Amino acid sequence: MEGTPKQPSNLSLLLQSLLEEALQLPEQGKVADYIPALAAVDPEQTAIAVATLDGQLHTAGDAQQPFSIQSVSKIFGLVLAMNRLGDALWQRVHMEPSGQPFNSIVQLEWEHGIPRNPFINAGAILIADTLVSHYSASKAALLTFIRKLAGTEQIWANTSVYHSEKEHGNRNAALAYLMKSFDNIEAEVPQVLDHYFYQCSVEMSCQQLARSLLFLANRGEDPINGQSVCSRRDAHRVNAILSTSGMYDQSGEFAFTVGLPAKSGVGGGIAAIVPNYGVIAAWSPALNTFGNSCRAMFLVTRLAERLGLSVY
Ligand code: DON
Repeated sequence: MEGTPKQPSNLSLLLQSLLEEALQLPEQGKVADYIPALAAVDPEQTAIAVATLDGQLHTAGDAQQPFSIQSVSKIFGLVLAMNRLGDALWQRVHMEPSGQPFNSIVQLEWEHGIPRNPFINAGAILIADTLVSHYSASKAALLTFIRKLAGTEQIWANTSVYHSEKEHGNRNAALAYLMKSFDNIEAEVPQVLDHYFYQCSVEMSCQQLARSLLFLANRGEDPINGQSVCSRRDAHRVNAILSTSGMYDQSGEFAFTVGLPAKSGVGGGIAAIVPNYGVIAAWSPALNTFGNSCRAMFLVTRLAERLGLSVY
């Protein structure tokens, strides 16, 4: 990065004008419907929030509206697992881009049940296994961790999304049982899946999401309360995997055009880490063919261009 980006004199006004542009884009994309509870969301909702290391928060649109964070939750699970397992974790999950759709199963068979990275479903299910095996109440531990990072108790899992995930989770079950057949899952599969589906069904607003990930922009330390969330080395590592694998099969294009470590979810959220500056969280439910939110992509891309945020 060419030094710390300059805070524009009125970031909130810039966010508002980008939001208005996003709302005027020709209708694009489709709300995720493979989980019925996600299909019911109003596709017009759109938001952006920027939290900066100095404690400022700028927002536009529906930035206080909770949405299903889905795969963005994989960041929280990964950090908890890294803190608990240390380097042993990387014997069981690798750190390479997969070049396959997030729920693909073929590569897992070829590669003996070791997922390519923690951000595809197989990798996140593996992480769920480590959490189930190392915490007596892994779901509560995850929720407590997220709430602490966001600085609020007002974060919950959505019960109807959770049940919907469970009812339509056959492919995830196949991934888990395949890894179990290679002895890469320790706990019982139903328990592992239960944690994974719960994690995907957590709801947060853009405002909460941006605040909660500030430690990744600050070498592992929460800049607001000064507490260490993870080591500096692990924060760098999470950002590295986000850069190569956080945006599904569009990760290369995202690195090319935006240049920030980021994670998306099929609920329409994107969280992008701007090292030494802050976090951008954007949300709108309609997705492009890669599973990334059309409007959130637009918002993050335009803001990164305007502020010159690329780390490359
Ligand atoms: O596993 C599923 O079906 C979803 N809950 C995954 C969520 C998601 O955003 C896709 N991610 N990799």
